[in-house]
Amino acid sequence: MKKRPFIIDCDTGTDDAIAIVAALGCEEMEIVGITSVNGNVPESYTSRNNLNLIEYLGYHIPVCHGAILPLLGSKATEASTAIHGKTGLGSTELPEAEHSDFDPRIAAQFIYEEAVKRNGELELLVTGPITNIAVCLCEHPDLPNYIRHLYFMGGSTVGGNVNTTAEFNIWVDPEALHVVLQSGIPMTMVGLNVSNQTEMRPSEETLLRSFGTRETNLVAELLVYMMNRSVGASKVFRANMHDPLALAAAVFPECMKYEEYFGDTECAGTYTRGHTAIDVFRRSGKEPNVRVAVEVDVDLFREWLCDRIRISGENGEAVRK
Ligand code: RIB
Ligand code: CA
Repeated sequence: MKKRPFIIDCDTGTDDAIAIVAALGCEEMEIVGITSVNGNVPESYTSRNNLNLIEYLGYHIPVCHGAILPLLGSKATEASTAIHGKTGLGSTELPEAEHSDFDPRIAAQFIYEEAVKRNGELELLVTGPITNIAVCLCEHPDLPNYIRHLYFMGGSTVGGNVNTTAEFNIWVDPEALHVVLQSGIPMTMVGLNVSNQTEMRPSEETLLRSFGTRETNLVAELLVYMMNRSVGASKVFRANMHDPLALAAAVFPECMKYEEYFGDTECAGTYTRGHTAIDVFRRSGKEPNVRVAVEVDVDLFREWLCDRIRISGENGEAVRK
């Protein structure tokens, strides 16, 4: 099978890390590199998490620094101790990378150079604020000529998780998604309207632990953290697989249904900044510019995800020998 080249651009975080582990179990993918962005936690943490994770699992995949601030330069995200823990990986402390260092190119430069090298075959999986892609477009307006497809976790057609309208990734940098949506890059959006249905439960944690590999144990540990965190007295966050679902859109699309819509982001609203305005009633008169996931077969997705994590463990054991 000819592997499809991907760059994973992420704000590693708990569910980003699970998506990376699962991607390492997807035989369809060649992971060309991992680029880091400010999001769940500051970029200094997300980039370190990416480098430590790749070395811990035994791979030699380029890891790049990326945007420290959103496009408009507002403050970086505070370390989100509540949702992803102080470092972004919950209570998991990976060994500090000793033999790897960051690729000298920053994300926007890496993405463009690798896209041109692959002459239109490169695909992007974006699981954090989409700042790096927007920066790359600003520096290289011809980027769309070299991107086969961009899959992103972000936005929603039914309401937010930061407030009633905005989903976190887009709320951090709505201008960035506005830039990317106007670019002409073929895109698939995986929003909260589907990802909020993808909770992993103790049964999946038990199944993954039964495989006993570094990968499956790591994911099980992350799931335990995600299942048990809470914010305030009542608000409990479930172990929703937001980012792994965006991976599924790329390599296991049959677990969801999609519609083509026109979409843009609200960048000015006092109460709605970060809202993804998806024209689900098709009344804008504007041409569709994004394919939106609208339904998910959760059981099929969960079974696929656990299987990819299992295979990732088998792959990792072979790599680490
Ligand atoms: O809203 C969910 C998204 O925000 C996920 O990508 C999660 O990792 C956080 O970045
Ligand atoms: Ca993320």
